[in-house]
This record gives sequence, C-alpha cells and structure tokens, in this order.
Amino acid sequence: MERENFGSKIGAVLAAAGSAVGLGNVWRFPIETGQNGGAAFIIIYVLCILLLGLPIMISEFLIGRYTHANTAGAYRIVSNGSPWKWVGRMGVFTGWFILCYYVVVGAWTMHYTFLSVTNAFYEVPAQEYEGIFDRFVANPWVPTLWLFLFIGVIHYVITRGVQSGIERSAKVMMPTLFVLTIFLAICSIMLPGAKQGIEFLLRPDWSKVDSTTILDAMGQAFYSLSLAMGCLCTYASYFDKKTPLAKSAVNVAVIDTLIAIMAGFIIFPSVFNIGMNPNEVGAGAGLTFVSLPNVFQQALGDGSFLAVIFSTAFYFLLFVAALTSAISLHEVATAYVAEEFGFTRKKGATIVTLVVLVLGTLCSLSFGPLSGVTLFGRNIFSLFDDLSGRILLPLGGMLISIFAGWVLDRKLYRNELSNAGDLCTPYFKLLIFSLRYIAPLAIGLVFLDQVGVFEVFK
Ligand code: PHE
Repeated sequence: MERENFGSKIGAVLAAAGSAVGLGNVWRFPIETGQNGGAAFIIIYVLCILLLGLPIMISEFLIGRYTHANTAGAYRIVSNGSPWKWVGRMGVFTGWFILCYYVVVGAWTMHYTFLSVTNAFYEVPAQEYEGIFDRFVANPWVPTLWLFLFIGVIHYVITRGVQSGIERSAKVMMPTLFVLTIFLAICSIMLPGAKQGIEFLLRPDWSKVDSTTILDAMGQAFYSLSLAMGCLCTYASYFDKKTPLAKSAVNVAVIDTLIAIMAGFIIFPSVFNIGMNPNEVGAGAGLTFVSLPNVFQQALGDGSFLAVIFSTAFYFLLFVAALTSAISLHEVATAYVAEEFGFTRKKGATIVTLVVLVLGTLCSLSFGPLSGVTLFGRNIFSLFDDLSGRILLPLGGMLISIFAGWVLDRKLYRNELSNAGDLCTPYFKLLIFSLRYIAPLAIGLVFLDQVGVFEVFK
C-alpha cells in the first residue's frame, strides 16, 4: 500500500504539537503549577522534559520514521520478532483507550462553547454552575449527541488522509489555537487583580517542592507530551528522511510548555479578580466546567459582550486543543487496523470510529444512566482514565526507554538521529545515558506512585 508522508516540516511539527497541546495543558498544568511552588515547579517540569520527555520523544520519532509503519508494525520491525514487539501493541491499545474517554470531554467542550455563544450563563447564580454541569453530563441524550458530532469531525479529518486531513487541519487549527491563547491571555492580564494571579502562578516557592511535586511534574510532562501511546511514533512514520528529529522534538516541547504557561495567564487573573481562593477552584472537569464559567461571567461582566466573547473563545480553544489531540489518537489506531489487517485507510478508520462510538458512549453514559456500573469503585469513564493514565502510560514509557537505551542498535540510533550523518549530534551520549538509567528509574517511581505504593508510607 502507498504510504503518504507529511508535505512539509512545519506541517509535521504542527501536527505533533497538536497532539501534545490538549486538555492537560489547560486543566491540569496551571493549577498544579500554582499550588506546587510556581516558577519552582516550572523549573522542575522543564528539567523533567529535558531529561526524560525529550529522550523518549526522540526515540519514538526515530522508531516511527525508521520503520515507516504503524506503531505495532514499527516495534515488530525494530524488535526483530522478540517480545519487545508487544511494546508497540501496548502503545496502540493505550492510545485507543485514551481516545474513548478523551472524546467524551471533547464533546463537553463543544456544549460549553455553545452555551457561551448563546449567553446561557447570564444571570446564573454562582452556586448553580455545579448543577448545570451535573445535569448536563447525567442527561442520556445531549452529551451523546455532542459526542457523535465530535467523533464525526475526527472521522472526517482522518479519512481525508495524512496530508489533506491531518496536516492541513493542523495548519489551520494550531495557528487558531495560538491566536486564541494570546488573545485570551492579553484580555485576562488587563483585568484588575491580574498581578496577584500571575504572582500565584509564577512566584517561586521552593518550600512547596517535595518528592510528590517531582513525581507530579514527571507524570504531567509525560502526559502532556503525548508519550507512550503511539501518537508520536505514528506521526513520525509520516516524516520524511530529512526531518530533523531532535529539533522537531524540541519545537514540540517548547510549544507545549508555552501554551501550558499561557493557560495559567488566562485562568488566574480572573480568579483573583473576583476574589476567589485559587486553591478552591478545583482541577480538571470541576475547574473547567464548574468554576471557570462562573469566574468569567463575574470578572468580565455578567452577560456582557466581553464575557460572551471571552467565554466562547476559551471553550472553543479547549475544543480545538482536544480535537487535535483526539485526531492523533485516532490515527494511531487507524494506521494499526489498516496496515496490520490489510484494510484500506477508510475502512480502517471506520472500524476505529465504530469502536470509539460504542465505548465512548458507554463512558459518556457512565455519568448518567450507567452510573451504577462500577468496578473497583470507579465508573466506566474513570476506569478507562485510570487504567490508561496511571498504569499503561508509565509502564509503556518505561519499556520504551529501556528498549531504546538497551536493546535498539546504537549505530542505527545514531545514524537515524543524525539523518545519516547530515546533522551533528553532540547530545547523543547524554541521550542514551538518560534512556538507559534516568528515564526508566524516574518513570518507575512515577508508576509506583500512580498505583499508590507510596501511600502506604505516608
Ligand atoms: N497531550 C494531551 C494533553 O495534554 C493528551 C493526550 C494524551 C493526547 C495522549 C494524545 C495522546 O491533553
């Protein structure tokens, strides 16, 4: 089967950055930073990216581009048939799993964009926002309809192919995302109270840094860069031989980190503006769909034009961020199904979409009619989230670094990294050192932390 490549280097970087920049940048990074020592946390986070994130990202790029195959196929080729081939398959399934619950939140961002643009938050009392969200997610129909629409958009982009679908959409959506982020950050910084908000986000406070902070920073860096779920490997399989791997990885990491910091600039000035305690805004869905709609109305004038514009732009930004990430997850599974089972791309995409429709709907309904279906005290949505995020992701990352550092042929690594000798790679030794020792150890600790081993000692 003819395999497409990305048409340009910038398209390739934007697509990979689209995968990295997602909900995690907005709903987790800023609040984690604010609560864990501001600039001190950011420094630790950047160190995690340098020491662990980049080496793994570069390795995933390298394996993808070297093999020009889907993630399962790629690891089969580089592992020469040894059991290491399972790392690729695991990546595909982790990605597919994440997609099934990620689309649910993507659908919520669409609904909140709609609510914002129709000025539905006008004159809503502060204590009502929680009820609005709870009733919305518990409704059997409304979230499901948005879900189908969200998955429909992903399906459309994927079936258009690598260049006309993924690359072209990234070239439109990523600049849109940058513009929205900058617009929102500027609006926010002009609010009275912004100074305190920015101080909360950035003031370094090393006393807040302990071992948990470092583990959090590592976990966040990992998730935010979309490591270990086949996305980077699959996208890199469409890179051409001239794409500089290390430089592309650095570009992706820089874009991802900048957007995450800017998201903090968007959120905290308004929080301080209305005199709210930032430690009470929550994180994740609670922050995004309960606290923030209220914060924006109050900070910008209830029902005012500015509030409508700001709120709409914010949820649309989230929608775009979630969409580009979801597209990258879908592509992992589509490339896998199409190439491993010999289907056309369209048929592969259709199979993936159908599975996601079914499992995604189950995840979505787990906030309503299926809320009684639980395992280990978790509903279906949390099961998908925890299994992929807490277990499969760190485990996959650890295996990738061990494989790249210890098993993969060094000459092959160096040759690919330098584009067959075209580029200088003075960082090569450090990279391998990190893959061999630092990354497996560090991720091993995150893994033990995620499964709750350290709780026992507290
Ligand atoms: N990196 C994305 C984020 O920050 C999440 C994601 C994970 C996207 C895995 C794709 C794959 O939200």
